[in-house]
Amino acid sequence: MRIDILTLFPNMFENIFQESILKRAIELGKVDIHLVNFRDYTEDPHHKVDDTPYGGGAGMVLMCQPIFDCVESLKGENTKVILLTPSGEVYHQKMAYDLSKEEHLILICGHYEGFDERIKSICDLEISIGDYVLTGGEIPAMVLVDSITRLLPGVIKEESYVEDSFTSPLLDYPTYTKPRVYKGMEVPEVLISGDHKKIDGYREKESIRITKEKRPDLYHE
Ligand code: ADE
Repeated sequence: MRIDILTLFPNMFENIFQESILKRAIELGKVDIHLVNFRDYTEDPHHKVDDTPYGGGAGMVLMCQPIFDCVESLKGENTKVILLTPSGEVYHQKMAYDLSKEEHLILICGHYEGFDERIKSICDLEISIGDYVLTGGEIPAMVLVDSITRLLPGVIKEESYVEDSFTSPLLDYPTYTKPRVYKGMEVPEVLISGDHKKIDGYREKESIRITKEKRPDLYHE
């Protein structure tokens, strides 16, 4: 998969591709990530990418031209163009699965007060990572890249994600590792029993209990 990230702040991404699973996925050639500063595409002699809003109001608005030209130069036959915006569809695991099947993604990170509305006309999807406002689309783009990359074949073992929370409507059951007792807190006896039928039953019950308690919306679903 190829992912182009259109951003005015490429340095914000410096470390996240150099650690852990993302680093390995890149080294294995599973994902090819390009950081593109759309300021390089502006035709403005002063390299401007934003301007004041028509009708008045606070802040600056990203202009069409640099983003239109940048997307046009990168777009292929099988490209999905995604705008990161707090007014987009709220991101969830099923969207990550669907996007992991794509060949090429272009992620557009906004900044400042917003975008010229006409930028939406060149986008296939508008995605929000949650009901809060960040300073820009860079962190949301990182969230998409991370959640999609781990689902690409050969990046992590399939069994590591088939039981993820949100793959099923239930949240994850609790897990423990050594030692058996830590600061007086004990690992549940059943997990040490070696009886896998019992362990499966315990985990299912715990998943249901935790979902009911923490996410009644998912539980009712
Ligand atoms: N840009 C600013 N806030 C955002 C959010 N919550 N999701 C996606 N893009 C954003």
